[in-house]
Amino acid sequence: MPKISILDATLSNMIAAGEVVERPSSVIKELVENALDAFANQIIIEVQNMGLHTIKVTDNGIGMSKEDAKLAFLRHATSKIKNKNDLSMIKTLGFRGEALPSIASVAKVKLETKTEDSEGYFVVFNGNELITEGTAVINQGTAVTVNDLFYNTPARFKYLKSEIAEKNAIIELFDKLALSYPSVQFILKIDDKEVKRTIGNGHVLTTMETIYGNQVTKNNFTFELEYQKINVKGYLMNPYNSRSRKKDINLFINQRYVKNYALTQAVVDGYHSFMMVNKYPIASIYITIDPSLVDVNVHPQKTEVKLINEQLLKFQIEQKIKETLISKPVELKEIKRDKEEVFSYKKENLFTEKVVEHPQYIKEESTFFFKPKEEVKKEEPFFSKKETLSNHPEVEIQEEAIKRTKLPDFDYIGTFSGTYLMFQNQDGLYLMDQHAAAERIRYEKYYKKLSEPRKEVKQLLLARPVLLPENDLAKIELYEKQLSEYGFLFSNQKIIGLPIWLDEDAIEETLETLLTMLSEDGKIEIIKLRDQLAKDMSCKGAIKANHQLSIHEINEIMKNLKECDNPYTCPHGRPVFIHFTHYEIEKMFKRIV
Ligand SMILES: Nc1ncnc2c1ncn2[C@@H]1O[C@H](COP(=O)(O)OP(=O)(O)OP(=O)(O)O)[C@@H](O)[C@H]1O
Ligand SMILES: [Mg+2]
Repeated sequence: MPKISILDATLSNMIAAGEVVERPSSVIKELVENALDAFANQIIIEVQNMGLHTIKVTDNGIGMSKEDAKLAFLRHATSKIKNKNDLSMIKTLGFRGEALPSIASVAKVKLETKTEDSEGYFVVFNGNELITEGTAVINQGTAVTVNDLFYNTPARFKYLKSEIAEKNAIIELFDKLALSYPSVQFILKIDDKEVKRTIGNGHVLTTMETIYGNQVTKNNFTFELEYQKINVKGYLMNPYNSRSRKKDINLFINQRYVKNYALTQAVVDGYHSFMMVNKYPIASIYITIDPSLVDVNVHPQKTEVKLINEQLLKFQIEQKIKETLISKPVELKEIKRDKEEVFSYKKENLFTEKVVEHPQYIKEESTFFFKPKEEVKKEEPFFSKKETLSNHPEVEIQEEAIKRTKLPDFDYIGTFSGTYLMFQNQDGLYLMDQHAAAERIRYEKYYKKLSEPRKEVKQLLLARPVLLPENDLAKIELYEKQLSEYGFLFSNQKIIGLPIWLDEDAIEETLETLLTMLSEDGKIEIIKLRDQLAKDMSCKGAIKANHQLSIHEINEIMKNLKECDNPYTCPHGRPVFIHFTHYEIEKMFKRIV
């Protein structure tokens, strides 16, 4: 008697549900993705009791025939792929044919649907059994109602987090879905109250504004990158609006929201010298790529993908972000305001401020330093309604002309605490951190100096020992050939030749940087090297705090700072200046209210 038996459909669907339906938000994701694949341009999501009581997703898409409505609940039943070639060219969000049967195995599901030319029909499935069916009076489209989620899998409840966490997961998912299809209107109702709504006008920036608030989006930077038939559009929010987690770095590949470590890191690294330590930007990056170069069939939840040439893509995005941010001045300063002057991004929000993690934004505009004079750019729709990936129009985003805001003229009026130089002009009072300013000047000097590290070598008169730990010395032997290409020559672990561009006092840290790159990346990336070395060297020897400068030194700093491409931050992202307007000062003294 064989011990092995084939599992029945209900059981195998429940096993699949274990991977696909992790929590209430996963059900929403699957249902909304079905609606998007059905070309809906309006999707309403309704949730009762964190989705455990009811989740209802209503769309105005193409709908289904009576027969398809029943077939849809069979495992491996899909209209999206037919053969194995299709699997390597996925153009839809779904393709596995398992979402509806998986959901129906752990909940009670009613599906009502109507196509353009058939009458409406409904089916009710419970644990994969068709309970009832019949005609339904509905508009074209589909509505799926999921009741009593996890009623038959009590262990799932154990893994659910708090009510707040589950609602948050739903809201965060809503944001990603809405951003993935800006041409679709999304509405979210929780416990009968409308929580969120997007316009669905096809504009990414409008959608981001609805999600993050206009204080976040009003100073944004956009870019477009095109190489090897890959198109990348980036919507970068001002670094001033930072987050303490990476969750608002939104990545979309072929309109699918994806999680990808390397590409997220590309955004983090691109923003690097504009952000404070442990802070992360808000950005949406849309990558359009030949579907045959992306493998979506990696995990049942379909948010992980494998990409061909991922490292090259990472590098391109990182560089483009750096270029984009440097080409425009960046706002930096945040001044804490009185409580009543602060508003949250959505007043009628259902939850406490803690639940929705969007921080509060400052209403008043005059508090930022050096506001870039931006012309409001009319955004083109991103993807038009009901359009598939293969025919989306090329959207032209004009390259922003490279603009640099010069430092205004102002007069030096004194030094505070041996560290902050004070200046004034008709716009108010400026405090300048002398160390941050000196670092910026040195950084740009070195960055330019290192722009073309030539291979000419300066020979040392005496062989010099390298003052690095043992394991680094061992690495020097390992990578001697690559290091020699950069002008480092060794004999018996002593250095005998240096690249012409390198100061002798920076040998060790330069070698350390090179060795780290070689052992981690297997190669030296010259742009990364420039940035890293310039940062390292900028700090060394820069004027320190608590050091009174002569007027001659101050003039010299100001002259050099004016020549900098980005005089507003130090290379590590800290502000160089803080500006107080007359208005702010008078307000502090309560001369005006
Ligand atoms: N909202 C909808 N509008 C129109 N058709 C739908 C809708 N939802 C589901 N369908 C149809 O039912 C089929 C089964 O849906 P299901 O979500 O189970 O699988 P899938 O979307 O094909 O793949 P995956 O399991 O990856 O989501 C779909 O292929 C589609 O034809
Ligand atoms: Mg699906």
